[in-house]
Amino acid sequence: MRIVRTIEHLRQLLREPRRKGQKIGFVPTMGYLHEGHLSLIRRAVKECSVCVVSIYVNPKQFGVREDLSRYPRDIKHDATMIEKENVDILFIPSDNVIYPNGYLTYIDVEKISDLLCGKYRPGHFRGVATIVAKLLNIVLPDVMYLGQKDAQQAVILKQMALDLNFSVCVHVLPTVREKDGLAASSRNVYLSKDQRAQAPVLYRALKSAANHIKAGERRASYLNGLISRMIRQYSDGNIQYVACVDAGTLKPLKTLKGQVLIALSVLFGKIRLIDNVIVSIKNQGKF
Ligand code: PAJ
Repeated sequence: MRIVRTIEHLRQLLREPRRKGQKIGFVPTMGYLHEGHLSLIRRAVKECSVCVVSIYVNPKQFGVREDLSRYPRDIKHDATMIEKENVDILFIPSDNVIYPNGYLTYIDVEKISDLLCGKYRPGHFRGVATIVAKLLNIVLPDVMYLGQKDAQQAVILKQMALDLNFSVCVHVLPTVREKDGLAASSRNVYLSKDQRAQAPVLYRALKSAANHIKAGERRASYLNGLISRMIRQYSDGNIQYVACVDAGTLKPLKTLKGQVLIALSVLFGKIRLIDNVIVSIKNQGKF
């Protein structure tokens, strides 16, 4: 595996495979890698001739009250982990490489960046879209791999790729979970023992809502209530939002139809956990 820190070096390494028409896969990350990241990396290695992984904790996607300096980092451990997965190139740029002095350009994917998590993290998705656009221009991959865990991020980045004519396929892979159902996340290490024990209720509540939908429930308000009640009953988490939205457009739904994303964000102390499920509605339902 080559560890690369500059854009020039990365472009030089990718010139030959690109000339040969080899498929380049790309997995953008902020590091502190876990099984969720590894699932994307394994798929990229399997489907592509060349796999590029980036690790960059992007300051522009952290709000003023979000502690960028506390984001967990362990580059050595990350590098050892992905070396075993046969990754070809690990790109670890510094802040000066990505945002040199005088940097002025940002990407705003309108409307859908202000919904759900966007309401609680102003500017967050502007930062995400900007860094991912830059990384796509640097790597020029054929396929970019993203996780369903960050459902809104995936919708926004697909929209950006479409609107700005990025020549990339975006593949979104399922959420990887711990044995007890908690979605794998770099932030889980910050949960106290109690919080960690309570956190699986998020997925249990989402699954319970999915079961009610199977049984015919179609009212978003009922399902949102059910999920919120479960979370309040079984945890000390503070709910930021619980929402049933259209999985493609993120528009809120009153009555469920089509592909529905049920998404939530809950604060455990200062630690923000998000999770979601997608449910396909095929018929009318009973309610
Ligand atoms: P990060 O949180 O490191 O996540 C990198 C990728 O891993 C994202 O596509 C995310 O959705 C995916 N991922 C995280 N947890 C997952 C899980 N449990 N199962 C499956 N996939 C999971 O998301 C970011 O970094 C950044 O915003 C980034 C896109 C790199 C831009 O800075």
